[in-house]
Amino acid sequence: MEVDFISKFMDTKLTVMTNNPPLDHLAIIMDGNGRWAQKHGQPRVAGHQRGVETVVRVVDECVLQGIRFLSLFAFSSENWGRPRDEVDALMSLLLQFLASQRQRMLDDGVRLRVIGDLSRLSVPVQSALVDVEKETATGRNLTLILALSYGGRDEIMRAAKKIAQSALDGDLDINKLDNKTFSGFLDTGDIPEPDLLIRTSGEIRLSNFLLWQSAYAEFYFTDVLWPDFDAADLRIALEDYRKRKRRFGLTDDQLEDV
Ligand code: FPP
Repeated sequence: MEVDFISKFMDTKLTVMTNNPPLDHLAIIMDGNGRWAQKHGQPRVAGHQRGVETVVRVVDECVLQGIRFLSLFAFSSENWGRPRDEVDALMSLLLQFLASQRQRMLDDGVRLRVIGDLSRLSVPVQSALVDVEKETATGRNLTLILALSYGGRDEIMRAAKKIAQSALDGDLDINKLDNKTFSGFLDTGDIPEPDLLIRTSGEIRLSNFLLWQSAYAEFYFTDVLWPDFDAADLRIALEDYRKRKRRFGLTDDQLEDV
């Protein structure tokens, strides 16, 4: 059963599912590339290369599954602190990914969006991202959101600054600021909140990913390392999610009443 209602307790429109909840937005923390490389006696960058192949597989499977939004944590604000060689390798892989997948995205109706503090990325990376975002803007099947130079706290801080500026400019009445208005100032302003968040590699933490947006996300953790994660692993996670009952802070009795 699916019921839309405006909760008395939150100022958000909720879709409460008593079973088989809808999955519009899947978010993934792709973890374990380094450990995969170590396990196979290869340099860390080899793990990241295999990680990109997993990205391609997972995007394909999401299109097949009819998932409308896929967010991938590709490079965190903290990842800037990694050795220079590794940062450079990740940026090269990103450029190769954009060049090799551009046509495929267009063919499959995949739209690229990027979130994060993009000002820290190099000019060539920024312009490649902007180009592919523009080219794929009409993609209607799946929106692929790459979180790059992204941190949840940083995003919330940047939103708070924009809100303060807007109030100073007289464009925003601070007394009318609510969850919905605040969300609109985040990088994900026009993107629905994640329904399911998967983290690979056995680590059980959020690591500053989509902090605000994941308030009511369901979490799924798997020991599989990201380079080994395949369509079958994704389907197992989706099956697990479909058995969940999403309560959004309400009680079973209240859910039966709506
Ligand atoms: C975590 O593994 C992964 C990352 C920090 C980067 C993820 C990047 C990719 C999958 C490739 C680039 C992506 C795109 C979209 C082109 P880790 O290095 O922290 O692994 P470890 O915890 O085992 O060391």
